Amino acid sequence: MYTFPFLSEEHTMLQDAAREFAQKEIAPVAEKFDHSGEFPIKNVRKMGELGFMGIEVPEDYGGVGMDTLAYVLVMEEISKADASHGTIVSVNNSLYNKGIMIFGTDEQVREWVTPVATGQAIGAYSLTEPMSGSDAGNMASRAVLNDAGTHYIINGIKSWVTSAPYADRIILFTMTEPEKRHRGITAFLIDTSQAGFSRGKTEPKLGIRASATSEIIFDNYECPVECVLGQPGEGFKIAMAVLDQGRIGIASQALGIAQAALDASVAYAKEREAFGQKIGQFQMIQHKLAEMKTRVEASRLLVYQAAYEAVLAKKSGARITLPASMAKLYASETAMYVTTEAVQIHGGMGYSKEMPLERYFRDAKITQIYEGTSEIQRMVIARQLTELR
Ligand code: CAA
Repeated sequence: MYTFPFLSEEHTMLQDAAREFAQKEIAPVAEKFDHSGEFPIKNVRKMGELGFMGIEVPEDYGGVGMDTLAYVLVMEEISKADASHGTIVSVNNSLYNKGIMIFGTDEQVREWVTPVATGQAIGAYSLTEPMSGSDAGNMASRAVLNDAGTHYIINGIKSWVTSAPYADRIILFTMTEPEKRHRGITAFLIDTSQAGFSRGKTEPKLGIRASATSEIIFDNYECPVECVLGQPGEGFKIAMAVLDQGRIGIASQALGIAQAALDASVAYAKEREAFGQKIGQFQMIQHKLAEMKTRVEASRLLVYQAAYEAVLAKKSGARITLPASMAKLYASETAMYVTTEAVQIHGGMGYSKEMPLERYFRDAKITQIYEGTSEIQRMVIARQLTELR
């Protein structure tokens, strides 16, 4: 791997710490958790203790006070060992913590971010509903301000909420003024221990099986007005801006999966023999490895560029929509391409559960779907170019 000039000693130290933890504590149990679909709660707590759940959160608020580059380095290392662990780290750091840090008040950051950044609590982000996925603004759930003006009463069902079965805190997006369409959506901070909140069906998934995903149900949940994130009606923009951050996380998760599949393929090509020679000496395998390596490194550059733009945007407030969507699109398409080729290079062993290749292949697929499908990323990128949004 190359050393990038903008990575400081602190960055590489954190990267080394993440790699060591991932290879020692995550990689050996990844297959077991994938098989059982159990949530790796012990490792989640340990990652919290190591600071991996509050990478960009200032030390005063319980985090390690580093930047988005540090975050993507950790994400790649964790996801190389297991994408399910990567999903949990990503949602806590970018969708939950970052969302509140950008749009919350100082009090909200202290109360809602610190427990997640220190690993004592688990965060989630809830936008999708059974009838609205890509068309995120078209939601049926509702929040109505009570007559006293003290609480919003929330009702409705949200779906595909990552970490929801274990989440203590959730950023929720729901409709407060339906006639205003996307301008009538508000973001709320939800405490899952309160009455009126419950969990619905858990999703049985193809990949990232150890990351828990479920519906959440609001039945007259009373949310104090102090728990509105940002201003009423600003929810859609908050959701989109936070997804810009989240998409960098998913891009680095995809990069980690692809790197793991590439590393395994190179090792196998040097070791496995067919027709009297190592398969890595065959031109058809060489062609595959060359394509895989080039796409992985191109993904890495896009991921680092997007992370760097996020670092700059912290001061300038600029939108990072374009670099984030390009990184997510390219890295997730690469993860699918590379893991498909990796299974092919391994032949029968690639298809067997005795090796992790089939898990990489199943895990890669979600990166093309969640936090905006590849089709949505292409739409976002093209709109940035043509409509100056
Ligand atoms: N940052 C800030 N504002 C933004 C923005 C961004 N990135 N993107 C759009 N906006 C603003 C626009 O400027 C516009 O503002 P005005 O009201 O002032 O005009 C407003 O939001 C509406 O924007 P659009 O007209 O572009 O909205 P749209 O309805 O056409 O939808 C979309 C745009 C890109 C398709 C969006 O709906 C989208 O990203 N869909 C995919 C949703 C998604 O990623 N879901 C995944 C959820 S999380 C998950 O996967 C599960 C999990 O737990 C991890």
